[in-house]
Amino acid sequence: MRSEQAKPVRLSDYRVADHVVKTVYLAIVLHPTATRVTADLVVERHPQGQADAPLVFDGDGLTLTAIAVDGQPLAPEAYEATAERLVIHRPPAGAFRLRVETVIDPQANTQLMGLYRSSGTWCTQCEAEGFRRITYFPDRPDVLAVYTTRIEAEKKTAPVLLGNGNLVEAGDLAEGRHYAVWHDPHPKPSYLFALVGGDLAEVTDTFTTVSGRVVRLGIFVEHGKEDRCAYAMDALKRSMRWDEEAFGCEYDLEVFNLVAVSDFNMGAMENKGLNIFNDKYVLALPDTATDQDYAAIEAIIAHEYFHNWTGNRITCRDWFQLCLKEGLTVFRDQEFSGDMRSRAVKRIADVRLLKSHQFAEDAGPLSHPVRPEIYHEINNFYTATVYEKGAEIIRALKVLIGAEAFRGGMDLYLARHDGDAATVEDFIACFAEASRRDLTQFFLWYRQSGTPQVGVKTRHDPVAGTFTVDLAQSHLPTPGQTDKQPMVIPLAFGLIGPDGAERALFTEEGEAMPGVIALDTAQRSITFSGHPTRPVLSINRGFSAPVVLKTDLTAADLGFIARHDSDAYNRWQAIQTLATEHLVAASRKGAASVENQGAETLAEALAGALAEAERDPAFAAQALTLPSESDIARELGSDVDPDAVFTARKALRQAVGSRLDAALGTVLARFATPGPYAPDAGSAGRRALCNVALDLWASGGAADRLAAVAARHRDADNMTDRFAALAVLAQHPGAEREAALTAFRERYRADALILDKWLALQAAIPEAGTLARVEALLADPAFAMTNPNRLRALVGSFASGNQTQFNRPDGAGYTFLAEVVVETDPRNPQVAARLLSAFRSWRALEPGRRALARAALEHVAAAATLSADVRDIVARSLG
Ligand code: TRP
Ligand code: ZN
Repeated sequence: MRSEQAKPVRLSDYRVADHVVKTVYLAIVLHPTATRVTADLVVERHPQGQADAPLVFDGDGLTLTAIAVDGQPLAPEAYEATAERLVIHRPPAGAFRLRVETVIDPQANTQLMGLYRSSGTWCTQCEAEGFRRITYFPDRPDVLAVYTTRIEAEKKTAPVLLGNGNLVEAGDLAEGRHYAVWHDPHPKPSYLFALVGGDLAEVTDTFTTVSGRVVRLGIFVEHGKEDRCAYAMDALKRSMRWDEEAFGCEYDLEVFNLVAVSDFNMGAMENKGLNIFNDKYVLALPDTATDQDYAAIEAIIAHEYFHNWTGNRITCRDWFQLCLKEGLTVFRDQEFSGDMRSRAVKRIADVRLLKSHQFAEDAGPLSHPVRPEIYHEINNFYTATVYEKGAEIIRALKVLIGAEAFRGGMDLYLARHDGDAATVEDFIACFAEASRRDLTQFFLWYRQSGTPQVGVKTRHDPVAGTFTVDLAQSHLPTPGQTDKQPMVIPLAFGLIGPDGAERALFTEEGEAMPGVIALDTAQRSITFSGHPTRPVLSINRGFSAPVVLKTDLTAADLGFIARHDSDAYNRWQAIQTLATEHLVAASRKGAASVENQGAETLAEALAGALAEAERDPAFAAQALTLPSESDIARELGSDVDPDAVFTARKALRQAVGSRLDAALGTVLARFATPGPYAPDAGSAGRRALCNVALDLWASGGAADRLAAVAARHRDADNMTDRFAALAVLAQHPGAEREAALTAFRERYRADALILDKWLALQAAIPEAGTLARVEALLADPAFAMTNPNRLRALVGSFASGNQTQFNRPDGAGYTFLAEVVVETDPRNPQVAARLLSAFRSWRALEPGRRALARAALEHVAAAATLSADVRDIVARSLG
């Protein structure tokens, strides 16, 4: 483990590496506990580096066995090698060859960073700082080298040997051994290095690029799982085509390989030509994966593939620039999924995710800018803010400068910076140039943390025929940032007449106006002419800017927007706003009644969405999905009582359920999809509608209804419907639920990924017995403390997905999480730190729970040894 309280890294301290590596030849002899790594490096001084600087390379837990410069072994006094560092006191002035030999133990690597073993397969994870756990190296993204990798292993245990780039040589050796040599012609930073060795099955295909080159595609999985790769392969080919068409990005190697492993800290990794995936985001069959799983596989396959240009060909100068590749690549994968599926429904799903994860993060102690300026542990900055808000900023930029200038900026960026380790400034400069605009103020989106608030008030003057919109932006303080400047906030908008038709936009002077307001001052008023009757303002259409809106729209206005807006996103948002306003009031008052004006309008809006279900079932499903408990808690902002929130939401669900009972019954009968399962967006939308309808229809908990849900569970011919019915049953205690859970456990006993769903569902049951159930499940053979997917399924789902039980009034949920974190930390700091961030909203709780949460965090802080990862999260959470 690294040192306890290392100094922070600051953006302002950036300077080039004194020594850079131009060529890497790695010879790796795979062995379970003693893998030998020989690195032959061509090292040069950086022209801008310090002239007589010693050579200092990074290491992490390394043991040096040999070292030579230009073929001569180094004398012991000429260098110093610790687990963390290699220093050569007086390296040659010109370019030289450095040979370094290390021995590492992949079997003992439980952090899953560097070279480790997953179910017997050797694999690597080098982002962000894992390469230094394989060999000494300037392990920073601005050192770009050409890599050749020779992998040697026993043929029986590792018949498959994969590396970055193209295979250049392979053959048999004595004593049942063999080797393969891979060469990657594209210079890359060390975090993109990868290798895999193991006994894996291969599914192959080909892709012909736009210029006619044939690329060999391979997906490598555990034997017996070959039949679960078809969807991933299809998603990969569609991604490759889409990137050519949408961004002019063509693939640049002879092969593209993708490996699925079952022990992985995150979703997947974009290593050049050799993407490595959490198997959860590759494997899918109708009986094993839900529609949501299919959509996630499609998005993540695309995301990693798109990194080939945005991340690999153009990489980051330093880790402060992480959003340069992640925000942009998320934006690209969202656009891809939007093109593959329904654009509006995809946008709604993305905004839901943004609000639930990123807005929550930005409202608490872990809030940070999209481009941070200081970090203690970079692993903790793979956040919703860097990824999701990073993508939103790019989307907002596109709204601000227009699609054409945006594409021009992207083309310029890809052409100008190909082969570079770039900065966010480099990126934004391309759009400034393409749009001929000054984007200095826009850059504040990268520097200022927190979610901007935009207040909107409207005035109508029937005599003058004018309609005035008063806008005001404000910014709450966030950690390290008290004074903030006004930002440029692009708000797409429209005015809707009483007939439901879109009105033309004219200024007071009668000039035509575009449908975007760039709010770039603290306050601004805009007056529109030609409105003898009052129009309704639809603003932040498509969620054009990631802000919290506070409008003076009445319940009637919102109901009107829900019916008439040409912008589907705002139709959905209007319904959400109606529901949220009701739920916030009910949570505060402890009043569960829906008998107020907004609730009546909400019920009508939901009925309207249901009536439209035929036209767009996926949209109707989104409309009928009420804001989550954590959404409501975020709106409450302070003094949150999760039990009151739960009660309010449950009451609304039941009220909506009984009010729409007949219509829900009709939907259930109408959309129950007969025929074979297909994962396409259209069929998925019909299933989604059916399954929210099922939840509402059964929300009263009547015995005959639950029996019908249990029957649907039993008879379902696909995982989506089977699991959705189980999730409905999980909300209602009783014999039906327990029997269905047992049957599910039995049916999928050999399938760890499916049992993760079973674990997660039970951990999310909103009942007092859940903590005991979770503790019991720790001993179930389906669970393993050492596997990140199992931990996230059981403990992560409890801590992040169960508001009432994690936040038990007796604090037992907090104590439980704190103990799991302390136990996991020595083994896997990255996963432990992530679990701990479930405390990110603790300060918004009511005083009793707040004190208990603080005590649990302090308990973690007091642990004898803590990783840099957990120490950083705990310090910032308490800070
Ligand atoms: N670069 C990866 C992605 O977004 C993220 C990632 C995968 C990662 N594994 C990691 C980040 C391990 C940090 C540590 O696609
Ligand atoms: Zn990524």
